[in-house]
Amino acid sequence: MTTAVTLRGLRKSFGTLETIAGIDLDIEAGTFVSVIGPSGCGKSTLLRVVAGLEPASAGEALVYGEPATSARKHKQVAIVPQHPGLLPWRTVRANASLLLDINQKANRSTTTDPVELLERVGLTKFLDAHPHELSGGMQQRVALVRALALGAPLLAMDEPLAALDEITRSEMRLLINQLVQGRGVTTIFVTHSITEAVALSDRVLVTSPRPARIIADIHIGLTRPRPDDVEDEPRFFDLCNQVRHALHEGAHS
Ligand SMILES: Nc1ncnc2c1ncn2[C@@H]1O[C@H](COP(=O)(O)OP(=O)(O)OP(=O)(O)O)[C@@H](O)[C@H]1O
Ligand SMILES: [Mg+2]
Repeated sequence: MTTAVTLRGLRKSFGTLETIAGIDLDIEAGTFVSVIGPSGCGKSTLLRVVAGLEPASAGEALVYGEPATSARKHKQVAIVPQHPGLLPWRTVRANASLLLDINQKANRSTTTDPVELLERVGLTKFLDAHPHELSGGMQQRVALVRALALGAPLLAMDEPLAALDEITRSEMRLLINQLVQGRGVTTIFVTHSITEAVALSDRVLVTSPRPARIIADIHIGLTRPRPDDVEDEPRFFDLCNQVRHALHEGAHS
């Protein structure tokens, strides 16, 4: 088994504000792991530390065996933020290839043609459009392609679907399942949605109120590839309830 992410005694504070209170975690390569917890508990901070955007205050964060900050420099991780953050003057095609353009030295054997990915997410007709001509869901698909095209083995997503309406959200859920599974990519996915976490993940980590600790680590044994109607399965309801109870207990402990 290859370990994609290793956290040992990870702590993070901003001045006197403690946000991560000692997390130990191993994430197996190729798995999809969601992090769900109360607002303000430190989920985004955790993701930023794993993505190498913030240094840890204590302990260790390793990505494929190297410190997260250097893994980021070596393009081992790609980030999908909550807001797509597309450049308004670039076309869809040019936004999708942004990270490749910036990282000219990216390893060409792992990158994917952004146009091919844009076609897979249904944007063939919009390659030369500009972001203002797209709906929110379409913009978020471009942001997803921008990250996937880089071919980084770790994908860090921070509530990428939060700004979308319910129908677009569930379409995006199917799309993420189709795009991510089978690529061997490891994903850490921060969300507030229990159904989203269960539908997408192999594992759901539930965190406590700030400072964040992992209070439940729920294995989602639903078969892969996930069928489009996975949310109708009785087991799906049971798993959602497990996550809900863990969140509830965490909030009142
Ligand atoms: N750069 C920073 N400097 C100071 N404090 C920060 C910084 N980033 C986050 N915080 C604080 O750390 C705490 C955790 O923030 P974080 O964004 O990680 O929470 P979250 O779990 O992602 O919340 P939400 O679910 O609302 O997105 C908050 O109290 C926040 O104000
Ligand atoms: Mg957040």
